[in-house]
Amino acid sequence: MQLYRLGLLVASCVASVAAQSTFTPARPPALPLAVKSPYLSTWLPAGKDGGNGGYLAGEWPVFWANQITGWTGLIRVDGKVYTWMGLPGSKTVDQTAYEFTSTKSIFTMNVDGALEMNITFLSPLTPKDLRRQSLVFSYLNVEVSSLDGKEHDVQVYSDISAEWVSGDRNATVQWDYGTTDGIAYHKVHRQTPLAFSEINQQAEWGNWYWGTDQHKGLSYQSGADNDVRGQFSKTGQLNNAKDQKYRAVNSDWPVFGFASNLGKVGSSPVNTLFSLGLTQDAAIQYAGNDGYDPVPSLWKSHFKTELGALSFFHKDFSESNSLSSSFDSQVAKDSVATAGQDYLVLTSLSARQAFGATQLCGTPDQTYLFLKEISSDGNMNTVDVVFPAYPIFLYSNPELLKLVLDPLYENQEAGKYPQAYAMHDLGSSYPNATGHSDGKDEAMPLEECGNMVIMTLAYAMKTHNSKYLSAHYDKLKQWTGYLVDDALYPANQISTDDFAGSLANQTNLALKGMIGIQAMSVIANETGHADDAEKYSNIAHDYIKKWQRLAINHDANPPHTTLAYGDSESHGLLYNLFADAQLGLGLVPQSVYDMQSKFYPTVANKYGVPLDTRHTYTKGDWECFTAAISSRDTRDMFVKDLATWVDETPTNRALTDLYETKSGDYPQNQFVARPVMGGAFAPLLVRQ
Ligand SMILES: *[C@@H]1O[C@H](CO)[C@@H](O)[C@H](O)[C@H]1NC(C)=O
Ligand SMILES: *[C@@H]1O[C@H](CO)[C@@H](O)[C@H](O)[C@H]1NC(C)=O
Ligand SMILES: *[C@@H]1O[C@H](CO)[C@@H](O)[C@H](O)[C@H]1NC(C)=O
Ligand SMILES: *[C@@H]1O[C@H](CO)[C@@H](O)[C@H](O)[C@H]1NC(C)=O
Ligand SMILES: *[C@@H]1O[C@H](CO)[C@@H](O)[C@H](O)[C@H]1NC(C)=O
Repeated sequence: MQLYRLGLLVASCVASVAAQSTFTPARPPALPLAVKSPYLSTWLPAGKDGGNGGYLAGEWPVFWANQITGWTGLIRVDGKVYTWMGLPGSKTVDQTAYEFTSTKSIFTMNVDGALEMNITFLSPLTPKDLRRQSLVFSYLNVEVSSLDGKEHDVQVYSDISAEWVSGDRNATVQWDYGTTDGIAYHKVHRQTPLAFSEINQQAEWGNWYWGTDQHKGLSYQSGADNDVRGQFSKTGQLNNAKDQKYRAVNSDWPVFGFASNLGKVGSSPVNTLFSLGLTQDAAIQYAGNDGYDPVPSLWKSHFKTELGALSFFHKDFSESNSLSSSFDSQVAKDSVATAGQDYLVLTSLSARQAFGATQLCGTPDQTYLFLKEISSDGNMNTVDVVFPAYPIFLYSNPELLKLVLDPLYENQEAGKYPQAYAMHDLGSSYPNATGHSDGKDEAMPLEECGNMVIMTLAYAMKTHNSKYLSAHYDKLKQWTGYLVDDALYPANQISTDDFAGSLANQTNLALKGMIGIQAMSVIANETGHADDAEKYSNIAHDYIKKWQRLAINHDANPPHTTLAYGDSESHGLLYNLFADAQLGLGLVPQSVYDMQSKFYPTVANKYGVPLDTRHTYTKGDWECFTAAISSRDTRDMFVKDLATWVDETPTNRALTDLYETKSGDYPQNQFVARPVMGGAFAPLLVRQ
C-alpha cells in the first residue's frame, strides 16, 4: 500500500483547482476528532458514501451514530475569513495533509498561500495513568504561522453547537459562561437532565465544557449560529455577551464561540488551545454486590469540582501530549517491528476507538471499567465484545482487563444470575448495568464460558496474579463444567457472530471450549488444585484429538477445518485458535496452525478472507486474531488486505469491523465504532 493517497481525482478536473491532501498512513473511513468515551465520540466522515474525502473544512463532524455535532473553525487573515472546520459557509482553507497516530489527528492547512495551520485533535490515551485516563475530555490545538515571509493580522475562531448536549434536537438547553484559573469556558447542558438516559445514543445528563486560555485578545459569545459566526466574520471579535434565551437545540441553533486575536503573526508558530469535555458526577448505574446504585465517575475521586477537572485537563496539555506521544511511539515501534507499516494503520486507527467505548468509574480502591457495545446493541461489558478487544487492554495495561471483568464477577458471584453458564453482558442498555437476574440475556453459553476462563487466565498470567484465580475459582470451575458438557459436540447455538446465524457443532466454537478447559487446567494447577488440573488437562487433550477428526476436511486440497463438523464444503476463520497461542497452552498441534496458514490464501478475496462460507463478509477483528497465529506470509496477507480496505472502503462512518470482502462496503448490518477493533493488537501478543 502507498503511504498516502491523492485526494479526489475530480478536484483536478474542475476550474478552480482545490488543493489535494495527503493521508498518512491511510485515509480512514471516518477521521477520529474527539473520541474518548461512548458519549464523547465525534468523527469526520470521509468515505465515498456521503463523506467529502477526509477534508476538515466543508463537512460537519458527526457523533458516531451519525447526527451532526456542530463544531466550527474559522480564521480571519488580514480581514478575510476562511473556514477550517465544519460547513458554516465561508471559503475553505486548503488542506494539504492529514496524519493520524493512536491518539492524534493532525491536519495541515494552507490559507491562501499566506498562512500555514497545524490543527491537532488529541484524545489522550494514558492506559497506565487512570487519573488522566478518567477525564472525558479532548484537546483541539490550532497553530498558525506565516508562509510567505510577511506578517499577517490573524484571529482564530471556534465554536461548538448545542447539538453536543442532547440527541433530541427539540430538547431545551441551558448555558453559562465563566472563567476559572485563567481559563474561559462555556458550560452547556440540558435544562432538564435525564439521568442515565440516552436519546439517539447521546447522553442526556452531565455538563459539557468548552474552554480556552483567557487572555487579552480573547472574546466570547453565545447565540444563534449565524449571529455569532457573522459577528466574528465581520469584526474578528465577539461581543463578550451571553444569549439570555435558553431554548431548544434546533431553535436558532445556539452556538458557543471563542475568538482569539493573535495579532501580527510571523514565521514563528502561535497557538490557540481548546479543551472540550463532558462531566457526569455519576456515569453508570450498577448491580454489584448489594444494591443497584449510581457509580461515580472515577475523575470525581481526583478532582473536587468539575471546574477543577477542566482546569487540570486544560493546563495539562503539554504533559498529556507528551504521554500520548509516548504511547503513539510505543504502538508505532511495536507494530512496525511485528508486522510492518501496514499493520500500524490497523493498531493506530483502532486505539482511540477501543478506549472510546469505555468509561472509568468508582474510586481508586474499587475501580471499574465499563464498556459499551457501541452500535450493535448498546449492551454493557458484553463478554464476547470484551474478548475481541482484550488484546489492546492486555497490551496497554493488563489491569484494565481486570477492571472490565470485575463487575461481571461481582454480579454473578453475588448470585444475581441464575444460569449455570456465564452471563452474556452486564445489562442490556448502557449505562444501566442491571445484570440479568431473570437469566434471560442473549444466550451464548459456550462462547461466554470460554471467554471468561480464557481472559481471566490471560490477565493473571500477564500480571502474575494467582490470587485473582483463587478468588474466582468456584465460578471458573462452574463455567468449565459447562464447557466439559458442551464443547465436544456444541449444541445448536449462536456464537459471537450472532448475525451469521445459529448452528450446531461449530468447529471454532468447540475449539474455544476446549481451549477454555485446558486454560482451567492451568488455573487449577496455579491455585493448588492438582486433581482438577489433571482432570481438565486429560479432558481437553481427549477432546482436541477427537476434534481433529470431526472438524478437519483432510481430503480437501489444501486441507482445512470446516465451519461445522461434517460439512466438508464449508470453512471459516479459526480465530479462537489465537487463545491457545496467546496463553502458551500448546493444546493444539502446530500442524493445525500450519494447515490453516496454507489454506487461507486460497479463499482470500480482494479485501480479506470471508468469515465463513455462509457469506462473503468478514470481521476485521477476527482477521487480526487469525493473522496473529498465521505464518509470516499469511499474516502479511491479512494485514495488507485489511489496511488496503481501510484506505479504499466506501464506508464513511467510524471504522466498522464487519465488511464485504469483495466490495469493501457494509453488509446489511452497519457496525460502527465498536470496541472489538481493539483486537487489532492481537499480533502484538503473539510474537513470531
Ligand atoms: C506544522 O508542523 C510542521 C511539522 O511538525 C512544522 O514544521 C511546522 O512549523 C508547523 N507549522 C505550524 C504553523 O505550526
Ligand atoms: C421534535 O419536534 C418535531 C416537531 O414538533 C417533531 O416532529 C419531532 O418528532 C420531535 N423530535 C423528537 C426527537 O422528539
Ligand atoms: C436507565 O435507567 C433509567 C432509570 O433508572 C432510565 O430512566 C433510563 O432511560 C435507562 N437508560 C437507558 C439507556 O435505557
Ligand atoms: C454433531 O456432530 C455429531 C458427530 O458428527 C453428530 O452425531 C450430532 O448429531 C451432531 N449434532 C447436531 C445437533 O447436529
Ligand atoms: C503445574 O505447575 C508446576 C509448577 O508451577 C509446573 O511445573 C507444571 O508444569 C504445571 N503443570 C501443568 C499441567 O500445567
